[in-house]
Amino acid sequence: MRIDNNELYMGSFKLSDLAREYGTPLYVYDVAGIKDQMLRFKRYFSSEKLNCKIVYASKAFLAPKLCYLLEEHGFYSDSVSYGDLKILEHSNFPLNKVILHGNNKSILELKTAIEKDVLYIVVDNLTELKTLLQLSKQYPDKKIKTLFRVNPGIEALTHAYIQTSTLSSKFGESIFDDAIIKQVLELYISQDRVVLEGFHAHIGSQIQNATSYFALVKAMFEFAKKVETSTNLKISTLDFGGGFGIKYLEDDMELNLKETLTGMVRLSEELNEELNLTVQNIMIEPGRSIIAKSGITLYTCGGLKKTYSSKRYLFIDGGMTDNIRPALYGVKYKIDNCDRVFSEAQKVYDIVGKCCESGDIIALDATMGDVKVGDTLVVYTTGAYGYAMSSNYNGILRPAVLFVDTDQKEVVIKREEIEDLTKTYIF
Ligand code: LLP
Repeated sequence: MRIDNNELYMGSFKLSDLAREYGTPLYVYDVAGIKDQMLRFKRYFSSEKLNCKIVYASKAFLAPKLCYLLEEHGFYSDSVSYGDLKILEHSNFPLNKVILHGNNKSILELKTAIEKDVLYIVVDNLTELKTLLQLSKQYPDKKIKTLFRVNPGIEALTHAYIQTSTLSSKFGESIFDDAIIKQVLELYISQDRVVLEGFHAHIGSQIQNATSYFALVKAMFEFAKKVETSTNLKISTLDFGGGFGIKYLEDDMELNLKETLTGMVRLSEELNEELNLTVQNIMIEPGRSIIAKSGITLYTCGGLKKTYSSKRYLFIDGGMTDNIRPALYGVKYKIDNCDRVFSEAQKVYDIVGKCCESGDIIALDATMGDVKVGDTLVVYTTGAYGYAMSSNYNGILRPAVLFVDTDQKEVVIKREEIEDLTKTYIF
């Protein structure tokens, strides 16, 4: 992104021109930025001793064109549903590079994963393991490769809705619950169709301190040691999940990615030797940290209003239907006026959407120059969990997604039309 003549550009395109050409709201991604971030992850999460796999957490944002970039960069992908598996399959992403997550997978999801030979099914809990063992009888010739999700009890500092490793979390089985873990291991040992290759953990999202990750790596290796000591199982794979924090506002703190990733790799190499283990693969699952910063959302200002109590509202033509994050997590975003980035006169606005909800807020108390009806506004860092969590609330159509690659641009997801909205209704 750059500013020229007080107007904002991505690649060679002026943002307000893109808004006019494709309509707003519009999600725009900078392909060069996505590629850079993929390369950065590959550089930092690599080892001569261990096989380092980077699994993109596709829940952050998924589109066929992104799948091509993932493949090009040697990334794996996760999936959380039958729908995810189908989008990946239709995008020609090799399903043997996909892992299936979920705390309550349906039989259809499990069967699809087995039949399509996904890399791993990440079994979430004891009940699911029992279901999978039962199901595996229908596939006597298959070896079903799994990781088992554990909860290492590391409380990472983040919003409560995106913490996943507190002792009361719905995800995984606690490494401290000896009785459950014993049953899990016995079930794996009792048969040979469902194979335990290793363990998975994810301690939450938007985590800003490297020490939580180092504690996680240590806990996982020590747990693997405990399992190997008490059974004849061999643990070949440890998956440390995602959650690497990013900056939304300039003053936010930000996880040092290089220190975190290289530190996790070094620690894994050391612990593997120290504990006399034979772990071969270590994995991470970044979503937000790959995609968030390369995505922006463009809106058009449709109206301005000053209330009797002197609050200034700026109305945009989208809102909580294309970005639920401020309403759900109280997240704050940086916003600019694409047409006049710098302006002498500063005003304080609440920037709100068009939904019938007072919580439909994109930013509270945003200081900006004078905004006029028809101006294009940009909200930065919306690349993760924006489109992915969008909805049709109030009958609003999902926006289009545009990829910009230097001097090229292409729509990668079409704007919804009325037919998309009405097709499931029976009239
Ligand atoms: N692996 C697992 C098992 C996960 O559950 C998640 C995120 C990730 C990886 C990727 O986490 P990331 O690197 O993107 O932080 N909607 C929320 C975030 C929910 C995250 C859910 N799981 C938000 O908008 O902040």
